[in-house]
Amino acid sequence: MKAVGPVIVAEHLTKRFGDFTAVDDVSFDVYPGEIVGYLGPNGSGKTTTIRMLLGLLQPTAGAARVLGYDSLTEAEALRPHVGYMSQKFALYEELTVRENLAFYGGVYGLNGTMLRRRIESVLELIHLASLAGERAGALAGGWRQRLALAIAILHEPSLLILDEPTSGVDPLARRLFWDLIYDLAEQGKTVLISTHYMDEAEHCTRLGIMYHARLLAMGSPSQLKATRLPGPTWQITVGALLPALDYLKALSGVVDVGLLGNELHAVTCDDRHTATSLAAALHSAGFRDATVVGSAPTLEDVFKLQVAAEQARGEGR
Ligand SMILES: Nc1ncnc2c1ncn2[C@@H]1O[C@H](COP(=O)(O)OP(=O)(O)OP(=O)(O)O)[C@@H](O)[C@H]1O
Ligand SMILES: [Mg+2]
Repeated sequence: MKAVGPVIVAEHLTKRFGDFTAVDDVSFDVYPGEIVGYLGPNGSGKTTTIRMLLGLLQPTAGAARVLGYDSLTEAEALRPHVGYMSQKFALYEELTVRENLAFYGGVYGLNGTMLRRRIESVLELIHLASLAGERAGALAGGWRQRLALAIAILHEPSLLILDEPTSGVDPLARRLFWDLIYDLAEQGKTVLISTHYMDEAEHCTRLGIMYHARLLAMGSPSQLKATRLPGPTWQITVGALLPALDYLKALSGVVDVGLLGNELHAVTCDDRHTATSLAAALHSAGFRDATVVGSAPTLEDVFKLQVAAEQARGEGR
């Protein structure tokens, strides 16, 4: 493997399909040992970015280096060093877990004692040993995802690129899957993982927010919360939740408000409001039971406000 600084360097990556832009001028770096999330809704350009990083798709403009290799011209040399779990990974349904591993191990060029040793090792690591003899087709969703992850790390790659590995699996299976990702990062692997789950974004060391082909922001969850919101966030307890929500939406200085469980969660700009001024406004509007306290910002706040700002910029373009 080549000596490298950043594990991934994406520079102005752009992909157009005809006159549709799927990835628009995306630049970011990933450093060794990071777990970087790539968060975005359906169709925002996550898979297209990943395919360009892996040299599976030629960028319309821009370039990428992964593990020191040029993604486009050195893709062949790069691929053995990357564990890629594609969004539409294929398992052989009629083969057992162990047979799937043996098959894909062969594809990676592993054989003999080395292959057997690696299979036992990943079965253990991914906690799949007790299911080794099960047909892949009989596995529940979360276990299929684990088998796909086991396959992706068979050849001991130093970088994992996981494209929505947890989509469609239940919350418990998602938690367990993330435990495995932490284990792998602890062993020194670098991880780039795409997701559209906000709760998963919280687990990442850094996070990029994709929306309509553009990378709107990138940073650690705490950095994004500290720097990407226009002002403080508030928790509002009130009986008439929905009328109070409508009232706050229209109140000057409130940039975002939504339901959070049985309460309201609001973001205001700069120093326009204090807990006292917000409570006073609510009281005088007839919400006499309303109480307001400062609260912690959420990544959802960051996401919603970045998207709103991008939409406003789009209208201005
Ligand atoms: N080969 C292609 N030809 C034309 N359009 C494409 C092609 N591949 C992707 N697109 C379009 O580019 C956009 C981005 O797609 P992409 O698959 O990268 O999104 P994504 O963020 O991975 O979405 P999802 O969460 O649904 O997987 C989509 O509108 C998609 O329809
Ligand atoms: Mg995708």
